[in-house]
Amino acid sequence: MNPTINTLKMLAGGIILIASTFTPTAHAEYTPGLGEIMAQTAARHIKLWYAGLAENWQLAAYEIDELKEGFADAGHYHPSHKQIKQKLPELLAGYMDAPMAQLVLAIDQRNVDGFKKAYDTLTTACNACHIATEFGFNQVQRPNFNPFANQAFVPNPGQK
Ligand code: HEC
Repeated sequence: MNPTINTLKMLAGGIILIASTFTPTAHAEYTPGLGEIMAQTAARHIKLWYAGLAENWQLAAYEIDELKEGFADAGHYHPSHKQIKQKLPELLAGYMDAPMAQLVLAIDQRNVDGFKKAYDTLTTACNACHIATEFGFNQVQRPNFNPFANQAFVPNPGQK
């Protein structure tokens, strides 16, 4: 065989090998920071409020699931974090499980007053965990305006 073609084949094989070694690693290395997950959590917390107010119970239930996924990611990627002594999954379960269950109940019952009450309980628990972890300067509250101008919060009549 022509030696040049052989060399080219070897080179191509090498490039494919290098490419296959590097591509998956680049993906596996990305880890969302706890602050990033919390910023997402804060956005979901706002959306949850406007979904409940609009009695869009499907959207409210969806935001609850997204919040839960965020908490699971927080515990998974940051089982321990900075100066915090307790394990994150324990803290998250301790502060979030009860108010989240209260919200799920209000959403299932399509109960706006129950929803508002449970929402405030959740918000208080978010802040309690911030205080417990020495991040008490991060205070969340009921949102006082809706920054998501491109999302409709009223139920979609076309949605079963
Ligand atoms: C484990 C206890 C814990 C719970 C529960 C918790 N947080 Fe946090 N939160 C943290 C910690 C720790 C940080 C700081 C993370 C960092 O950047 O190091 C934080 C940061 C934040 C920030 C600041 C992020 C930024 O980029 O400005 C916001 C906003 C926030 N949390 C919202 C919430 C909301 C809303 C809830 C409830 C739905 C919640 N958090 C529940 C521990 C918690």
